[in-house]
Amino acid sequence: MSRRLILALCTSLPIACAADADADTAGSGETDTEDGGGSTGAAFDEDATIARALAYTTTLTQVNAESRPSQHGLASTVNVWADDGALAAYLALDPAAPGAAPTWSPDALLVKEHLDGGGVPTGLTVMAQGDPDATSDGWWWARLDVDGTVHETGQVGFCISCHTPVEASGWAFGVPLDNRR
Ligand code: HEC
Repeated sequence: MSRRLILALCTSLPIACAADADADTAGSGETDTEDGGGSTGAAFDEDATIARALAYTTTLTQVNAESRPSQHGLASTVNVWADDGALAAYLALDPAAPGAAPTWSPDALLVKEHLDGGGVPTGLTVMAQGDPDATSDGWWWARLDVDGTVHETGQVGFCISCHTPVEASGWAFGVPLDNRR
């Protein structure tokens, strides 16, 4: 990120500035350009969120009963997992009857697990609440491989545009009632 851009951000986002000063001393050669918004993730800990997502099999709850084909590319079938804070809100969503947006917990975490044709997990798409830079009501978006390789993070345009039809119900589609555990 250019110093001029950082200065511009400092003027408009004092909080981002404070974190940026830390980042500058902690590590030169910053490579985090994928969020594209000039965000430094000031009040949102991307690394911690990625770690939470990658631990999904031990800390999150699988919502669906059967793995099912998905509109997400790159996957033969998918499973959806939610953290304890997000679970009740997520279960309240019925894709057949979209209603009002649930109240998401401040660090709600939803993980969609992509499986290949053999049922082997390959990647994760992640929605996490708490991004102060969000253009999507607090949601932060990411696509990871299960080995931890990070692809897109932040306000990812193609995630957001495809989820915009369910903006009114909290940006998540939900799992059909007949496919719950
Ligand atoms: C082609 C449209 C499309 C795109 C692009 C897309 N999604 Fe989704 N997403 C869906 C649909 C539809 C569902 C509902 C489950 C299903 O049918 O697969 C879903 C479900 C999810 C879920 C489970 C929570 C829910 O909505 O029920 C997460 C998490 C998720 N997507 C994250 C992402 C992320 C992150 C990206 C970008 C990397 C992304 N999605 C891109 C269409 C899309």
